Amino acid sequence: MTLCIFLSFCFSCVVHGQSAKSLSPDDSPINTLEQLLLASAPFRRQPSAAHTVRKHMQMMATVESESQPKVGIKDYTGRFGGTEKTEETGYGQLEKDSLEATSGKSATRWSIHSERVQGVAKELFGLIGGLDPYISSVSNADGPIMQAIKEKMDSTNWDALHEEGKTMFSYGPEMSTDPIEAQTIKMFTFMKNAQRVLEIGMFTGYGAAAIVEALPEGGELVSLDIDPYLKEWVGEVMSQFPDGKKHSVEVGPALDSLVKLPADKKFDFVFVDANKSEYRRYIEILLERGLLADGAMIAVDNTLYCGLPYMPEQYDSQPKRRGFGEDVKAFNEWLAGHPDLMTVMLPIRDGITLVRKGL
Ligand SMILES: C[S@@+](CC[C@H](N)C(=O)[O-])C[C@H]1O[C@@H](n2cnc3c(N)ncnc32)[C@H](O)[C@@H]1O
Repeated sequence: MTLCIFLSFCFSCVVHGQSAKSLSPDDSPINTLEQLLLASAPFRRQPSAAHTVRKHMQMMATVESESQPKVGIKDYTGRFGGTEKTEETGYGQLEKDSLEATSGKSATRWSIHSERVQGVAKELFGLIGGLDPYISSVSNADGPIMQAIKEKMDSTNWDALHEEGKTMFSYGPEMSTDPIEAQTIKMFTFMKNAQRVLEIGMFTGYGAAAIVEALPEGGELVSLDIDPYLKEWVGEVMSQFPDGKKHSVEVGPALDSLVKLPADKKFDFVFVDANKSEYRRYIEILLERGLLADGAMIAVDNTLYCGLPYMPEQYDSQPKRRGFGEDVKAFNEWLAGHPDLMTVMLPIRDGITLVRKGL
């Protein structure tokens, strides 16, 4: 199970760039691997937009935290479009040739060694590639606010917004929680019976919408994000729904916002998903300031960070991520050894670690 989810995640990273809610672009069922590849085409990563990050990197270098010296903390960089290579055509000759070469092969139908290898590879491809679409097809926890956010996110031209100087960073939909992760966060919110929730790192608010949809009457979600444009973007959608009133956004570097939150209003559930290099400080401030209710739960996103925490450097195909990978690794070890926190990591998408205050 774990291996399947892990392999599925890797496959998603390499092929999809983001999970798809629909079975195929036109919602027709997928019966063949050829259909699977075609269905995944719209979700594949666009050519790199990393060059657009640079001007705002300079600006962000001046953002200082009031609560912690910046030594050892890396500035947020926004989207990684694939730092060393640009994948111009995700679905091309290679995929066509591979499908043709393995046509009719299966893990059980072979007569020579090479056929057997091809058959096993094809079955693995189907098992991995078919997993996300299947899980999506039998999950239905996404509500109307989530759907509205996703629709707007998918139809927004993020590269253009960044070129026009509206967003602080270069963004892409792959930076959002995907439908399965967001629905999982929604279920966690229900399971915790959370009244007051904090999200650190909001982007388009897909995860925020999931949380809001699970909050009871009088419940409250506070999201922290550094980019003022996102507050406006998300607010426009939330304002269309009565439950949207449960949501508020604090703009600014999370390390600064965290020290300004009122200490007497404790959180039952926290979703951590901003600058990976600052994760440890986020948790430390929550503990130092007593912002967590007794038995509070924290869900921390991207704790597998594309596998970098356990894969050696020699396998890096995007070396610019390595620094964040090392920080996530150090964070995971710090968390696992913390005397007051109980921790379990789940292999969902890029890894979600559940943390409970109290052992
Ligand atoms: C991965 S996205 C969050 C995704 C979101 N949780 C969701 O459910 O889709 C990370 C967000 O963190 C924000 N961010 C990055 N560094 C930050 C910082 N130092 N303080 C506050 N927000 C930050 C970015 O602007 C971006 O919107």
